Amino acid sequence: MTRVASELHRDTPVAAPGEVRPLAVGPLSVWPPVVLAPMAGVTNYPFRALCRRFGAGLYVSEMITARGFLLGNRLTQLLASSRQDEAPRSVQIYGSEPADVEEFARALAGEGVSHIDMNFGCPVPKVTRCGGGSAIPLRPRLLARLVRAAVRGGGGVPVTIKVRKGTDDAHLSYLDAGRVAEDEGAAAIGLHARTAAQLYSGEADWDAIAQLKRALRIPVLGNGDIWECWDALAMLRRTGCDGVIVGRGCLGRPWLFRELADVCAGREPAPPPCFGAVAEIALEHAAGLVEFFGPRMGMLQMRKWAAWYTKGFRGGNAVRAGLNGLHTLDDLRALFAALDPSEPFPRAALRAQRAKSGRVQTVALPQGWLDDPLADTAPAEACDADEAGQLDDALQGG
Ligand SMILES: Cc1cc2nc3c(=O)[nH]c(=O)nc-3n(C[C@H](O)[C@H](O)[C@H](O)COP(=O)(O)O)c2cc1C
Repeated sequence: MTRVASELHRDTPVAAPGEVRPLAVGPLSVWPPVVLAPMAGVTNYPFRALCRRFGAGLYVSEMITARGFLLGNRLTQLLASSRQDEAPRSVQIYGSEPADVEEFARALAGEGVSHIDMNFGCPVPKVTRCGGGSAIPLRPRLLARLVRAAVRGGGGVPVTIKVRKGTDDAHLSYLDAGRVAEDEGAAAIGLHARTAAQLYSGEADWDAIAQLKRALRIPVLGNGDIWECWDALAMLRRTGCDGVIVGRGCLGRPWLFRELADVCAGREPAPPPCFGAVAEIALEHAAGLVEFFGPRMGMLQMRKWAAWYTKGFRGGNAVRAGLNGLHTLDDLRALFAALDPSEPFPRAALRAQRAKSGRVQTVALPQGWLDDPLADTAPAEACDADEAGQLDDALQGG
């Protein structure tokens, strides 16, 4: 079989027998040791189900605001929801108030959720300005209270945390966060090896993943810049981490999970699909979104996906130009009909950036946040269902 890979990985070998081991997340054994990254506006049930159809591993929901869920916000509850066939089921919690987090974790455990992840890496100003997301590890006592609350509420459901390196290079917190996670009973930690100031720019610092792995006893998941299945093997080999988290690389490419399962098991992966097969997958995805969110919201969500599925194919620009007129599954079929179904997957699209630009930012923090690192509270969060729901709405934009 001819390998379709970037130049970088022309000769990267598949895993040798026994080289890649299952990932232990508390009582869960995850094989291959691959986790779909929580992504707002992306990793809802329809996309998780599609990814699962191709591969295996753990597929995490987007961040769900504890407060919005508890106050009964309809969108938040829909985003947190799943279907009977999803197992293991994995939900990412966002919250900066320990009582909310504990109650939410208890509710999720009651629904039979198998894994809870906690968001301590979100760089969005709306979140960090309130002392949430990536601002939290700067207050290790608050971090500890939140992890403890989730572990207590989860009552045996394994809890993991996901962090960035810190807010910026002058405030690196990942090693301390790892120690807190370990002390408070977290089952694993995931590190997106960029600072919040970096957003998605530059290259992820895999050396930081290696350093965290050396410092901890609990499993470490590496995250950042896995564009091809080969990158996952390279990250496991270079950092010694226990598993990998895959984000933007699977946008419009859910078959990446099949490739990941193949190379971890020592098999050469099949080439990616040609455009005709990609279009079939995209239509299946669209039908899932329409079924889950309803026709209007489902097709609105599909607009960004149509751009990702056609990225790099000849005629992809025309699809992007037609996205505003995309209202129905038939519209989508018509847009795809203009492209050549036999065109092979473009090699140049393998490592093409998806979803985020290369800009950087100054991280917005609450007043005085850095002056009192021993404090163990955050300012009051958005405190009614509408505001908490608005946060979910804002993040739907991705
Ligand atoms: C559209 C989008 C939404 C995201 N939403 C979340 C989120 O809800 N929770 C979270 O922990 N990280 C979120 N992230 C960050 C990813 O989980 C991941 O850490 C990041 O994309 C780096 O991995 P990658 O290089 O494989 O994309 C988001 C990323 C993207 C691109």
